Amino acid sequence: MVSLTINGKVVRAEEGEYLLAVIRRMGIDVPALCDHAAVEPYGGCRLCMVEITKESWDGWKNYVTACLYPAEQDLIVNTHSEKVIELRTSLLDLFLARNPETPLIQKLAADHGLTKTSFEVVPEPNDCILCGICTRVCDEMGFAAISMVNRGHGREVAPPLNEAPPDCVGCLACAQACPTNYIKFEDIGTTRKIWGREFELLTCEKTGRPTITREFAAFLSKHRDIPEEYFKVNDEAHRDELASTMGRITRWSVQEETK
Ligand code: SF4
Ligand code: SF4
Ligand code: FES
Repeated sequence: MVSLTINGKVVRAEEGEYLLAVIRRMGIDVPALCDHAAVEPYGGCRLCMVEITKESWDGWKNYVTACLYPAEQDLIVNTHSEKVIELRTSLLDLFLARNPETPLIQKLAADHGLTKTSFEVVPEPNDCILCGICTRVCDEMGFAAISMVNRGHGREVAPPLNEAPPDCVGCLACAQACPTNYIKFEDIGTTRKIWGREFELLTCEKTGRPTITREFAAFLSKHRDIPEEYFKVNDEAHRDELASTMGRITRWSVQEETK
């Protein structure tokens, strides 16, 4: 364990634990747009920047991204110093130029006193904040079906060659993790559409409701050792089954106790 000071409070943290986790545990609100529990930190948005120093640094300060900087013994961290707020506000000014209509950005910008950008708004703005969470989640799941492409204004998330991605299994992890709901998908009956691809959804044998795509079920069976039968019922039916099993066990143990 190490001991450090955050906003004047002495705290303990696991050695190597990232500052953002410690800051959040203290209930301090620091914007962190590219952080997601399911993936490794990436340091892309830079909004989680904090000021750090140490007694031994003779007044020298540094500015680091809290999501990537490990907690260190005797570190002194300020999450909201004047300079930090100034840096965050400049970043949000740039975000507003790229995503002027995105509620998440509008809210953060407003919290920093900005209602409109001082830069030129990009042509055809959209809600993608380029946090890279979707591509990292997809990589982490083992599909790598989408990636960040192009530079500057044209930077975007896209499948290879902007065509329906052959490696996508329609799991929806990217869409569910996207903080701005930018990734569109459609589930109609037993058909799912995402990234220009169309998938067939398996149907729960008990409820008649769709479960997951055939391709995702095949992947999980092959790589995660989950029997294909598991996907023949949906989560709700699994929960019902579990609840009734638990009910049976509880009734049985009560009967045993009262014998
Ligand atoms: S739906 Fe496709 S692109 Fe999205 S995470 Fe799953 S495999 Fe990747
Ligand atoms: S599509 Fe969503 S998750 Fe992906 S980079 Fe854009 S905002 Fe982030
Ligand atoms: S959350 Fe740390 S840089 Fe984005």
